[in-house]
Amino acid sequence: MKRELIIAIDGPSGSGKSTLSRRLAAALDYTNIDTGAMYRSVGLAAHRAGIDTGDDRALNTLCAGLSIEFVRKDEEEQVWLNGEDVSEAIRTPEMSLMASRVSANAAVRKTMLGLQRALGERGGVILEGRDIGTVVFPRAEVKFFLKASARERGRRRCQELRDKGLDVSLEQTIEEVKQRDAADTNRLHAPLLQAEDAVVIDTTAMTIDQVLQQMIAVVAERRQRAGPVFTRKESGS
Ligand code: DC
Repeated sequence: MKRELIIAIDGPSGSGKSTLSRRLAAALDYTNIDTGAMYRSVGLAAHRAGIDTGDDRALNTLCAGLSIEFVRKDEEEQVWLNGEDVSEAIRTPEMSLMASRVSANAAVRKTMLGLQRALGERGGVILEGRDIGTVVFPRAEVKFFLKASARERGRRRCQELRDKGLDVSLEQTIEEVKQRDAADTNRLHAPLLQAEDAVVIDTTAMTIDQVLQQMIAVVAERRQRAGPVFTRKESGS
């Protein structure tokens, strides 16, 4: 069966993944899947259930009973956890940390991997995260790896949180970004890693539009080169 492309966007927090995958998805009329939101939802559920992030069995059981959905409402993308809109609740600094912790767990990753492949395998999708081009869809037709200096990423994250009315300090946010980078990069299972065949874009001194134009050009070139793409299953974990 002929299908549209699978596009992977990976990179550390604050590199511009979320904004750019949304913009690129709108430009191509593709579906955007924010895989970080899935780990954040697991983190929120674990927090609410009082589960220790080191408790493998409890996390495994928790994951098996979760329903995570992406819902489009009035141009807005929402994340629903067990029938509840948690789009706001998963975006706090506390949930960033919880997401990073639960995402290091093998059972959690296995469950999310299955969900992400099921959501993306028909193509016409952009998945953004940390391990999309390396683990989830290693044969994605287009892979981007976005990066930016820790200072710039901290500045962006801080602005984002302040825009939401949270009282956060710049230095502390930069420190948290660095801590999360270290945790996401040094973990055993599916760490943050640049795929060998990824197009790397350093967004530190670029505007969103500049990055977007570069990405659109890469996709156009790949589309031409790939010709019709046929569905085949990714396998293994
Ligand atoms: O992109 P984000 O900040 O919303 O992601 C939250 C956490 O989830 C991040 O610290 C690492 C984890 N994550 C992951 O391990 N794998 C992914 N594909 C996406 C996110």
